[in-house]
Amino acid sequence: MNTPFLAGNWKMNLDRRAALELVEALAGRVGERRDVDVAVFPPFVYLDEISRALMGSPIRVGAQNCCDEESGAFTGEVAASMLADVGAELVLIGHSERRHVYGEGDELICRKVHTALGAGLDVILCVGETIDERESGRTEQVVATQLRAGLEGIAEGDMARVTIAYEPVWAIGTGHTATAAQAGEVHAYLRGLLEGLYSESVAAATRIQYGGSVKADNVAELMAVTDVDGALVGGASLKPESFLPIIEFQG
Ligand code: PGA
Repeated sequence: MNTPFLAGNWKMNLDRRAALELVEALAGRVGERRDVDVAVFPPFVYLDEISRALMGSPIRVGAQNCCDEESGAFTGEVAASMLADVGAELVLIGHSERRHVYGEGDELICRKVHTALGAGLDVILCVGETIDERESGRTEQVVATQLRAGLEGIAEGDMARVTIAYEPVWAIGTGHTATAAQAGEVHAYLRGLLEGLYSESVAAATRIQYGGSVKADNVAELMAVTDVDGALVGGASLKPESFLPIIEFQG
């Protein structure tokens, strides 16, 4: 079994003070639990300070996005190497809000995966279907396209640095969590795809997180599902009292 990986995606929330208070509260407790991996994803501008605050803590720090280009005339963008420079170790790529609010497509997402890995960052590649796609029976087709396209040209040796997050768009921020059965079906399908793209060992070792309205009261049920190796948590990751019970779920 893979080590559960619980990650908090803060999105565009919290200010500096609230962010520091949150990680201080988390750091005090996470050290006691060594059988899970934990990461937080603050907004860019707080990465440096949060990374420093978490020095010596097992909690890892990641960014929510990065530029597909390495450097140059890309006003408003942030390079993966800059993220690494201020202490980020991971980056979320292809989050549904990047895909659906900002129109990022699979080719751009794939370039970001390459650039991030090239800069030494680990990657969480997010995939997931909309409600229309699910209701018209296209879930597998959609996540397969996103997974294949996002990992195009990524070598087997780099897959140890890639986590997949299955986040059905209809479950994100809505309170409508996927059922254990729905998550289990898609996770098993994604693992099968990874086996076809790489190998049985890569498929088994690649962690697949579930994301979409994960809360303290549903995390244990989701984590009990075969092929669910962790959770990518939005709203419930913003406060110690809602994120700590997720990190401390009883398996
Ligand atoms: P949510 O967000 O937990 O607030 O649904 C999850 C995500 O977008 O990663």
